[in-house]
Amino acid sequence: MSLNPKPTVMRALRSSSLKGVVSIPGDKSISHRSLILGALAIGQTRITGLLEGQDVLDTAKAMVAFGAVVEKNDQSEWLVDGVGVGGFAEPSTVVDCGNSGTGVRLIIGAMSTTPINATFTGDPSLNSRPMERVTNPLSKFGVTTFGRSKGRLPMTVIGARSPIPVKYDVPVPSAQVKSALLLAALNAPGETIITEKETTRDHTERMLSSFGADISVENISNRRSIKLCGHSELNGQNICVPSDPSSAAFPICAAIIVEGSDILVPNITLNETRAGLYKTLIEMGANLSFENEREESGEPVADIRACFSPDMKGVEVPPERAASMIDEYPILSVVAANATGKTIMRGVKELRVKESDRIDVMAKGLRANGVFVDEGEDWWVVKGNGMGSVKGGSICQTFLDHRIAMSFLVLGLSSQNYVEIDDCLPIKTSFPNFIELMLEIGANMEVRDL
Ligand code: S3P
Repeated sequence: MSLNPKPTVMRALRSSSLKGVVSIPGDKSISHRSLILGALAIGQTRITGLLEGQDVLDTAKAMVAFGAVVEKNDQSEWLVDGVGVGGFAEPSTVVDCGNSGTGVRLIIGAMSTTPINATFTGDPSLNSRPMERVTNPLSKFGVTTFGRSKGRLPMTVIGARSPIPVKYDVPVPSAQVKSALLLAALNAPGETIITEKETTRDHTERMLSSFGADISVENISNRRSIKLCGHSELNGQNICVPSDPSSAAFPICAAIIVEGSDILVPNITLNETRAGLYKTLIEMGANLSFENEREESGEPVADIRACFSPDMKGVEVPPERAASMIDEYPILSVVAANATGKTIMRGVKELRVKESDRIDVMAKGLRANGVFVDEGEDWWVVKGNGMGSVKGGSICQTFLDHRIAMSFLVLGLSSQNYVEIDDCLPIKTSFPNFIELMLEIGANMEVRDL
């Protein structure tokens, strides 16, 4: 998303019961990867259920800039005609990835071992985020980059002319870094080995394997080791994108804290590398059930029923769970504010380098609405006084961060007074019909025409 000249203020108010079926849009991580792998494959990739959020649309545009053909047909399927591994063309203009860290990091990885140059930029949020975590290991393949200080965007990437395979132990728990390196390895001859200490979301590994890459995963001395042999051809696939568990988290947590609620959220991927929030909510006492559990497109999927849960208790969320719920801490903190006692979240310093510093921004907004929050570099604590106890009455800043915006709107649905956000437009990056869906199930939200 680019600079937004006219922010749209929104207000959420205490709501009566939320009821109904909520169809969540496609998973953002799988959507980005479907487009990028489709563009790197030979032949056509056919995608149903692609998330049409701004982040993913920016990735689609970028794939066209690199030479793929991307179109949506009359059946709402997205078709990608790929150029093959190593077949990316040089974009004729700057590639704008908007707000998307996943988009830019994966695309940089995917183009970096092809002998072309490309310049990347994004919105002010993306241009402030660290890219060295990707560009440092890419330099081992022979890639050169010129960015701003601290390796931030805008940045020009000079693709390796003769890429060499790499062995790299990813020092931060990041699926984006791991994925960027695996995509780079596709066009390096020989064996690249990427290891990670904490298991992060594994969609890239699963999808590379179904596209035909020579990839294997094993656990060696407490590390997950991923081996990829470059120069295999990828073949176009039919992909059915499941609904996004990170987006589903917002209506589900809303149902947990709004009295009398009972909602059904179908078709949510419960891939273990993504399901940490749901484990945590159950430990806290949430009334959640998983119906119709099945497998779709290689991902475990279920329909989730969420009901008002009056007796939620604070818990300690272990650091080893952080990677599997990294995007869900903002909304968890809203539930924690309505639980009884302290919820302690450790091992979460990655939250400080997301679309915003999510610990700092949530702490400020929660405190402004009467919630006790304490924080350190790598941890934070939210103390709740039970359902409906949050005072509310304040406006929260969202810093171009979609998940912060949705979290504070959900907070307002059970607070004693309204909760306002300074801008709801960033929500379209990941969950374009969030407001519409929440209104349909009975949420009390309104745009403030100031
Ligand atoms: C993502 C990985 C995570 C997550 C992001 C999506 C992905 O980021 O926060 O929303 O699709 O690979 P990190 O890799 O920085 O943890």
